[in-house]
Formats: sequence, structure tokens, C-alpha cells
Amino acid sequence: MARPDALSQRVAHLRVPLRGPRVALVPTERSFVPEYVRLLSEPSVARWTLRIPYPYSARDARQWVAFSAKNRRTGSALGLTIVRRTDGAVMGGVGLHHLDGGSECAEVGYWLGKPFRGHGYATEAVSILVRAGFERLRLHRIEALVLPRNLASRRVLSRCGFRYEGRIRDEVQKEGRWQTTLLFSRLVTDPGPPRRRSRPRA
Ligand SMILES: CC(C)(COP(=O)(O)OP(=O)(O)OC[C@H]1O[C@@H](n2cnc3c(N)ncnc32)[C@H](O)[C@@H]1OP(=O)(O)O)[C@@H](O)C(=O)NCCC(=O)NCCS
Repeated sequence: MARPDALSQRVAHLRVPLRGPRVALVPTERSFVPEYVRLLSEPSVARWTLRIPYPYSARDARQWVAFSAKNRRTGSALGLTIVRRTDGAVMGGVGLHHLDGGSECAEVGYWLGKPFRGHGYATEAVSILVRAGFERLRLHRIEALVLPRNLASRRVLSRCGFRYEGRIRDEVQKEGRWQTTLLFSRLVTDPGPPRRRSRPRA
């Protein structure tokens, strides 16, 4: 078993950007603040996620930039921005948190701004991060928690080779109500996702 701090060191030393055919995962940056605010100033992201506030202010975005830079330096979490490679457009975020060096496990989270949905960008971003998580951070297990009616997110996970494990009853409180979440995971030893049909490229 790895020493508890070995995973943090690997996170802190991970070389970014991580690149796929159409998207790159880059560190959060102060210059992206207006884009984060623009994309998060409509309610659909906060509706389906647990930690992103709404309404979303420039102050929230600046705090996020500072927080994720600190986490990356200390290796306690990895929060990255999804940008489109053709034009550098900021599209969303993807990250690994709840990193546990003892069990070599982490939880993946992601979101995409509304104008960029429906082109497979989220699937590509999560795939890239999962591959880096297994190959470069040497994780054994990556988990994801999803609200049951978030069908797009469930589809992304299935496309990325995650398996459904079960319901976690009343796992979190959201908007003052207990919410049951669905737990998905992928192990380093799991086979990759089935090959997909080709899809139109954006
Ligand atoms: C979840 C999210 C990132 C997906 O973004 P996206 O651009 O739709 O993702 P992709 O295009 O890569 O893939 C989405 C898949 O879900 C499918 N999908 C989209 N909406 C759907 C719906 N309402 N019902 C069923 N499937 C749906 C798409 O057809 C696609 O499947 P395909 O590849 O087989 O065609 C985006 O909807 C989002 O940011 N939502 C708000 C934040 C969020 O939910 N984050 C995840 C928290 S667990």
C-alpha cells in the first residue's frame, strides 16, 4: 500500500495540461473568472451538483481559483478547467477530490456550461482525467456520486467505463432536503468502456 502522502505528492507534481483530441484540462486561472461567472450564472449546474453555489459571483470564482491552486500545490485535490483546443474557449470544470492515499481512491466531479453540452466534451474530459488518475496518479479506484435524475451525467459515467454500485440513501442535504445519490465507480482493473459509434464532431 502507498504511504498516505505519496498520492498527494503525485497530484502536486502532475504535469498539466492534460490533452485529448478536442479538449484540454488546464489549471484554474484568474483570467478565467469572467467565463466561470458567465457559465455558472444559470441554474442548471448548481441544480445537479453539490458544491457549486447559485447565484454565482466573481467573488465565488476568485475564491475557487485560489482554493484550487492551493489544493493542487498541496496535492489535496485536483480542480481543472475544461477548454476547447481549437479556440481556447472555457467550457467547464472537472476534478478529483476526496483523495485518499491509503486506499488510493478519489471522487470525480464535472460540469459543462450550457452552450457546450451535447457534443461529447464532458465524456472526453472525464475520460482524460480518469486515465491520468489511473496511469499517472496510480489510483486504484475512482468514484462518482450522481443525483438519480441526472441522466446526462449517468450517461457520461457509463461512456467512461464506470459501473453502478448502488444507492446511498439520504447521502447529502440539498436545498434543505435529504437526497439519495447513486454511487458509480471504475477500478484500474476494470475493462475500458465499450467502443462507441462515431459521432458528429463540433
Ligand atoms: C452532466 C454534463 C457534464 C453532461 O454534459 P454533456 O455535454 O451532455 O455530456 P456529453 O455530451 O459528453 O455526454 C452526454 C451523454 O448523455 C446523453 N444525455 C444528455 N442529456 C440526456 C438526458 N436528458 N437523458 C438521457 N441522456 C442524456 C447524451 O446523449 C450523451 O450520450 P451519448 O454520448 O450516448 O450521445 C452536463 O449536462 C452538466 O454540466 N450538467 C450540470 C452539472 C452536472 O450535472 N454535473 C455532474 C454532477 S454528477
